[in-house]
Amino acid sequence: MKNSFSLFIFLLVLVCNLWSCHTDPLLQPISKNTDISFVQPTNWPAPNYNFQNNTLTPDGFALGRRLFYDTRLSIDNTVACASCHEQSTAFAQIDHPTSHGVRNQLGNRNSPALFNLAWHTSFFWDGGVNHIENQPIAPIMNPVEMDESLPNVIAKLNADLSYRQQFKNAFGTEEINTQRLQKAIVQFMGAIVSNQSKYDQVKNGKASFTADEQAGYVLFQQKCNTCHAEPLFTDFSFRNNGMPITLDSGRAHITGLASDRFKFKVPSLRNLYFTKPYMHNGSIATLDAVLDHYMSGIVQSSTLDPSLQNQITLSAADKSKLIAFLNTLNDYEFVKDVRFKKQ
Ligand code: HEC
Ligand code: HEC
Repeated sequence: MKNSFSLFIFLLVLVCNLWSCHTDPLLQPISKNTDISFVQPTNWPAPNYNFQNNTLTPDGFALGRRLFYDTRLSIDNTVACASCHEQSTAFAQIDHPTSHGVRNQLGNRNSPALFNLAWHTSFFWDGGVNHIENQPIAPIMNPVEMDESLPNVIAKLNADLSYRQQFKNAFGTEEINTQRLQKAIVQFMGAIVSNQSKYDQVKNGKASFTADEQAGYVLFQQKCNTCHAEPLFTDFSFRNNGMPITLDSGRAHITGLASDRFKFKVPSLRNLYFTKPYMHNGSIATLDAVLDHYMSGIVQSSTLDPSLQNQITLSAADKSKLIAFLNTLNDYEFVKDVRFKKQ
C-alpha cells in the first residue's frame, strides 16, 4: 500500500514535469542551457555599455524580450517595438521606407536595424539620445510611433499578474516602474550581438574570402573604412555623405549648429542584405544604387564630408567586387536565433 502510494506521487510529479503543468510558459525563465551571457567578440573594442549597473540575467532578458514584443506599449495596443524592428530583417523594418506607427502613421525616418547596440555611443540617426537606457521611452511617447504615456504603460503591465511576477523574478520585487522597464528592454536589445558573418569567420581563421571578396575588401579599406570602420563598420560619427538635401537637418536638429546640418550617424554596413531600403529616409533601394550615389550622386554643400568632395571612383568591375565583399557582412545566424524570437 505504502509503495503504491509513493509510486502514485512519483508518477504525478513526473507527469507534471513532463507537461510543465505548474506554470504559465511566459513565466518560465529561458532554458538554463540557453546562454545569454554577453561575450565581447575577439578583436572587437570594449563595448560602450557593459551591463555593469544592469546585470544581465535570464529573467531580465526574458522580461525585456516580452516587453519588446508587447503591443500594450502603444496607445491602442496595436504596435510593439518589434513591429518596426523585426528579427527576420536584422530588427529593421523593410516594408516601409519610413517607420509605420499607430493609426497607420508614417514617421520621417527609416527604422534602423538593431544589433551591436552595446557599442553605440548615441542613438537615432541624429544621435538625439545619448544613453541606451533612455532610448525606449522615445518611441513609446512619440505621437507617430506608439503615442502612449508611461503611466498608462505601467498601469497596463500592473494589471497583468504574470508581468508582476516577471518583474519580481528580474528585479526582486513586483514593483513596475519606468526605470525597470528601461533596464529590462536594454537587457534584451543590448544583448543582441551580430558577429557570425563570413567576414567574422575569415577574421577568426575559419573561412577565406573568394578572390572577388578579397579584392572588394581592399577597395572597401581604401574608400569606405574612414567612416564605416571595422569591425563594427561604423565609427559612430555624424557625417554628411552627400545625400540630396531635405527638410531633415540631421545632427543639427539636436545641436542647433549650422556646421552639423545634414549630418547623420554613420550606419553599420553589417547585415545590409536584410535591411533595405537604405539611408536615414529609406530613399535608396539597392546596394548598386548606393554605390551609384557615391560615384555620381554626391550633392555638394558646405557640410559635405571632405573625403567625398570628389565623389568615389569605381569601375564596373570594382563595383561588383565591393558588393561581393559587403555581402560577406551578412549574419544569417542572429536573424533566426531563437533567443531573440517572440516566445
Ligand atoms: C513606429 C515604428 C517604431 C517603433 C514602434 C519603435 N521604433 Fe525604434 N526606431 C524607429 C525609427 C524610425 C528609429 C530612428 C529614429 C530617428 O533616427 O529619429 C528608431 C530607432 C531606434 C533605436 C536606435 C538605433 C540606432 O541605431 O540609433 C533603438 C535602440 C530602437 N529604435 C529601439 C526601439 C524600442 C526598444 C522600441 C519599443 C519601446 C522601439 N524602438 C519602437 C521606429 C520604431
Ligand atoms: C564620409 C563618410 C562616409 C564614407 C567615406 C562612406 N560612407 Fe556610407 N554612409 C555614411 C553616412 C553618414 C551614411 C548615412 C547617410 C544617411 O542616412 O543619409 C552612410 C550610409 C551608407 C549606406 C546605407 C546603410 C543603411 O543602413 O542605410 C551604405 C550601404 C553605405 N553608406 C555604404 C558605403 C560604401 C560602400 C562606401 C565606400 C564606397 C561608403 N559608404 C563610404 C558615411 C560614409
